[in-house]
Amino acid sequence: MSAHLRALRLVNFRNYVDATALLAPGLNVVVGENAQGKTNLLEAIAFNVTGSSPRTPKENEVVRWGADFTRTEARIAVDGSAGERAVAIGYAPGQKKRITVDGVPAPSLTNYAAGGAGARVVTFFPDDIRVVKGAPSDRREFLDGLLSSLRPAYARAVGEYARAVQQRNQLLRRIRDGFSSERTLATWDRKVVELGKTILAGREAALPILEEHFKDALRALYGPEKAALRYAHSGTLEAYSEALTEAHSADVERGTTSVGPHRDDFEVLLGGVNLTTFGSQGQQRIATLALEFAARDYVRGAVGEDPILLFDDVMSELDERRREYLAGYFLESTQAVISTTNLEYFDEEILRRTRIIRISGGSILETATDGARR
Ligand SMILES: Nc1ncnc2c1ncn2[C@@H]1O[C@H](COP(=O)(O)OP(=O)(O)OP(=O)(O)O)[C@@H](O)[C@H]1O
Ligand SMILES: [Mg+2]
Repeated sequence: MSAHLRALRLVNFRNYVDATALLAPGLNVVVGENAQGKTNLLEAIAFNVTGSSPRTPKENEVVRWGADFTRTEARIAVDGSAGERAVAIGYAPGQKKRITVDGVPAPSLTNYAAGGAGARVVTFFPDDIRVVKGAPSDRREFLDGLLSSLRPAYARAVGEYARAVQQRNQLLRRIRDGFSSERTLATWDRKVVELGKTILAGREAALPILEEHFKDALRALYGPEKAALRYAHSGTLEAYSEALTEAHSADVERGTTSVGPHRDDFEVLLGGVNLTTFGSQGQQRIATLALEFAARDYVRGAVGEDPILLFDDVMSELDERRREYLAGYFLESTQAVISTTNLEYFDEEILRRTRIIRISGGSILETATDGARR
C-alpha cells in the first residue's frame, strides 16, 4: 500500500500559530468559510512532503506574519500501516531549510523533493489553470516539476541547464558588443546541448505516457472527444546541436538562446482544438484537472506508489455530475485532501466514509470521527 499522511503539525505556518491536523487514508475534506486557512493547510502538507511551497517561489511568505521561523512536522505511514516516518522541516528566512527524516538530516533538497519523505504529492490549486491557459513556461514548469519529483538527476539537470543558458546569453551579448569572439561559443554550446538533451529526452519519453493517462482522465471527466498532448519543439533531440549552431548569428544579434527545451511547449488539444487559445473557462479547468490526474497515474506507473492528492477548492465551478465523479475518485484514492467552503457538494453516503476537518481562523476545530472503515 502506498504512503499516506497520518498527522501534520503546523507551527507559525501562514495563519496557523500551532495546530495539528489528523488525516485518514482515503478522502479527507477540509471545510471552513473563506479566509480561514484551508488553502494554507493544503500548502503546508505539500511544503512538508516536497520541501517547498507549490504556491509561491517567495517562501518567506509562508512564515506567519510577525514570526521569524516556521516549522511543520508530519507523521507518514509507509510500508502498509506497519512503518511510520517522522518528517520535519524548519525554515527561517535567509537560512537554509532544516529537513529531517526520522531525526536524520536530508542529504539535499533535490533528493528530498524526489520522494525523500517516503511520499509524493500531486496538487491542484485554482491558479493552476494557467498550466492550460497560460504561457509555455507554465506548461514547462508542470512537466519539469512532475519529472523532478521522480528523478533527482532530472531536477539537477533543469537547474544546471537554466544557469548554462544564462551564461551563454551573457556571452552572446559580449560577442555582440565586440568583447568576445564567436569561437568562444563552442564550449557553451556543448554544455548547453549536453544538459538540454537530458531534459529533452526526459520530456519526450514522458509525454506519450502522460498523454495516454490524460486521454483517459479527460474521457471520464469531460466526454468522448479525442484529447491529445503534443510536444512543440524549438529543436528536436536529433537536430538540437545543429539547430543551436545554425542559430548563432541570430542569437548573437538578439543576445538570447533561441533553441532548446527552455523555449519548448506542449499543446493541450481537445477534439483537435487547442485549449490554450480556444478553450472555455470550464474546458480549461477540466483539462487542468485531467493533467493532474494524469500526473497521479504517471507517478503510479513510474514508482509503483500513489501520490497524495491535494486539491484546493476543486468542487466549485463544476456541475453536479462531475462533482459526483470526483468524490468517487478521491474516495478510492490512497489519500486525498480536498478543501471546500460547502459540504453540500458531497453526498451523505460519501461523507459517511470521509474524514472531515473543520477550520476556523487558523485553528483546526475538530476532526470528525468517521465511518467503520477506519
Ligand atoms: N504569512 C502569513 N501570516 C499570517 N496570515 C497569513 C499569511 N499568509 C496568508 N495569511 C492569511 O491566511 C488567511 C487564510 O488563507 P487561506 O488562503 O488558507 O484561506 P482559505 O480558507 O483557503 O479561504 P478561501 O475559501 O477564501 O479560499 C488569509 O486571510 C490570509 O491573508
Ligand atoms: Mg482557499
